[in-house]
Amino acid sequence: MSYFELSEEHYSVQVAAREFAQKELLPGVIERDNSQNFPTEQIKKLGSLGFLGMMVSPRYGGSGLDTISYVLAMEEISKIEAAVGVVMSVNNSLVCWGLEQFGDEAQKEKYLIPLAQGTCIGAFCLSEPEAGSDATAQKTTAIDCGDYYLLNGTKNWISNGHSATYYLVMAQSDSSKGHKGINAFIVEKNMPGFVIGKKEDKMGIRSSDTHSLMFQDVKVPKSNRIGAEGFGFTFAMQTLNGGRLGIAAQALGIASGALEYSLNYAKERKAFGKTLQEHQSIQFKLAEMATKIEAARLLTLKAAQLKDTHKDYTQASAMAKLFASEIAMEVTIEAVQIHGGYGYVKDYHVERMMRDAKITQIYEGTSEIQKMIIARQLLK
Ligand code: CAA
Repeated sequence: MSYFELSEEHYSVQVAAREFAQKELLPGVIERDNSQNFPTEQIKKLGSLGFLGMMVSPRYGGSGLDTISYVLAMEEISKIEAAVGVVMSVNNSLVCWGLEQFGDEAQKEKYLIPLAQGTCIGAFCLSEPEAGSDATAQKTTAIDCGDYYLLNGTKNWISNGHSATYYLVMAQSDSSKGHKGINAFIVEKNMPGFVIGKKEDKMGIRSSDTHSLMFQDVKVPKSNRIGAEGFGFTFAMQTLNGGRLGIAAQALGIASGALEYSLNYAKERKAFGKTLQEHQSIQFKLAEMATKIEAARLLTLKAAQLKDTHKDYTQASAMAKLFASEIAMEVTIEAVQIHGGYGYVKDYHVERMMRDAKITQIYEGTSEIQKMIIARQLLK
């Protein structure tokens, strides 16, 4: 597969994820894309198999696996249903990882254990109507009132917005300090004043639920602040470095799934008296798709390996996310082209994959933001 030496454990995680995706996700994926129904039962099973807290220590209910195992599993799940991939990625990288790294013992006992065991899921709430790419421009406020903070504001485009039980919410406590005035909080779904807003009707990843959220005088106990006063923006950025790795793997899965469908189709479909695979124009497309996918896989595994060996992976994860999401778009467009008219209808999966690919260039930092991060690292 690559120059990365994968262990027996890595292969068994990959196989387990592939089998789960084939058995549990493939049968209903088209229907869920149409209906936008959240895969509640499938996510429960994914949790019971340990895929929602993959990198969390067993001490806190997790599987204790490395980041390479995580990206391998993310690729397999996203090959079949990218919408399940995002639920899994947000819970693993943005919620569980952030809590294990930066939460205190009481927060880990109360929140991380059920999240890692997958008996509930979490959401990561940074984006706002006027703070997407410009994440420091937080308008949601968290006023220090002694024992608690008073939260007011609106978050937008929140993945797992309705299905989550616990929400990691970034909010501004002292605007005179800019991003150093931002805090991160654990908010529970049933806290008074927390309102779940409209569900978005999305182009892709349609079975995942994306909502706006409103906070109206929500009292959040001080013990639910993550880290020291003013740590919230650093928390969000460091957590997103790992999140971007998950999205790189999701994009990789969408692309490699589209290639598999295209290879199968090229072997069966005949045109001008021979199968598509015998036409050089199709062979060249397949060759280019496979080469781009392999390059994206290497970048993703490299970033995962840097993270596992505790090296700086900020630039590597931005490169992996940038490249994998760009090629996911290119590869899925080619997959539709290879399938011709069949590619433009829902039964053949690739049109959904083309729609799903688009979000990977947008969330957890657009391609333009990834370029900013890479350039800043280069010019440091
Ligand atoms: N890793 C660690 N630290 C980082 C960082 C990174 N990737 N990026 C920025 N920082 C730190 C900087 O070092 C700086 O720290 P100091 O003040 O201590 O030096 C601080 O953050 C502010 O950084 P900048 O001065 O570079 O701030 P900026 O405003 O010029 O740029 C940005 C910041 C990188 C553009 C940031 O706003 C950003 O990443 N924007 C994209 C936001 C994003 O990814 N949103 C995704 C939403 S979540 C989501 O999509 C989840 C989902 O549901 C699927």
